[in-house]
Amino acid sequence: MSSDTLSAEAIKEGLQTSCFGQEVIYLSSTTSTNRVAREAAQKGMQEGTLIITNHQTEGRGRLDRTWWSPSGKDLLFSLIFRPSLTPTQTFRLTVVTSLAIAEAIRQETGLETLIKWPNDIFVKGKKIAGILSELSVTGEQLDYVIVGIGINVNSDPTVHPEISNSATSIRRELRQDFPRLQLLAVILELLETYYQRLHEGDFPSLKNRWDTLSLITNKKVSVESMGSLYEGTAESIDDDGVLTLRDRTDTKRKFVCADVSLSLL
Ligand code: BTN
Repeated sequence: MSSDTLSAEAIKEGLQTSCFGQEVIYLSSTTSTNRVAREAAQKGMQEGTLIITNHQTEGRGRLDRTWWSPSGKDLLFSLIFRPSLTPTQTFRLTVVTSLAIAEAIRQETGLETLIKWPNDIFVKGKKIAGILSELSVTGEQLDYVIVGIGINVNSDPTVHPEISNSATSIRRELRQDFPRLQLLAVILELLETYYQRLHEGDFPSLKNRWDTLSLITNKKVSVESMGSLYEGTAESIDDDGVLTLRDRTDTKRKFVCADVSLSLL
């Protein structure tokens, strides 16, 4: 068995966590790990349960986009969270998740990895990973959150016409195959630490760290939201993940969700 073969046993072996990845649902192929995770959460599966696959037939990205990934190449997984947060605070999970992914890729590959609000991870101006968070809410109460993560590890996104210019992978950057299991373990370990710190009230220092890795903070950007385009300087996000854009006239505009790109001007 190759050192990169995914299985529940291989994932759990040597994993230094007490919660994340201690329950693993490994599927050689599935529709979408987010969908399987939602069904598992509804059945009461515990926080930290990891749902991971080698292949998705209906992998989804943000804004109902398709998430492309060829079989057996990348990391495609979802985690169940049952956090003590209000629904409006759940963006904090995306902050700690993107921080864990960016730092793990930096640590394991040496690549200069940055975070692009709201949920993308970039290397050399190209997307290398994405996060899709989905919540279940009853009234004001958050039941659970599914955080789905796709990381381009050994695929070659340049072969896919729609993302050939905008995406990259670890293999493309390092010019060699990269083992997925070690990277997954580091992500789960960092994420567990940051999640604990979030619950200990340490979000401000995690957000400061996120700011230092942010691709857009204090940069000139274009923001596309609900069919309109806005130009300005991106300020730091607030505690609920809301982005403030300051335009030339010093007018501030806030965005909960949008597509941002660095301005060419
Ligand atoms: C994005 O950048 O738009 C988010 C991409 C999230 C993709 C991952 S792959 C594992 C999980 N299952 C899915 O269907 N989507 C997420």
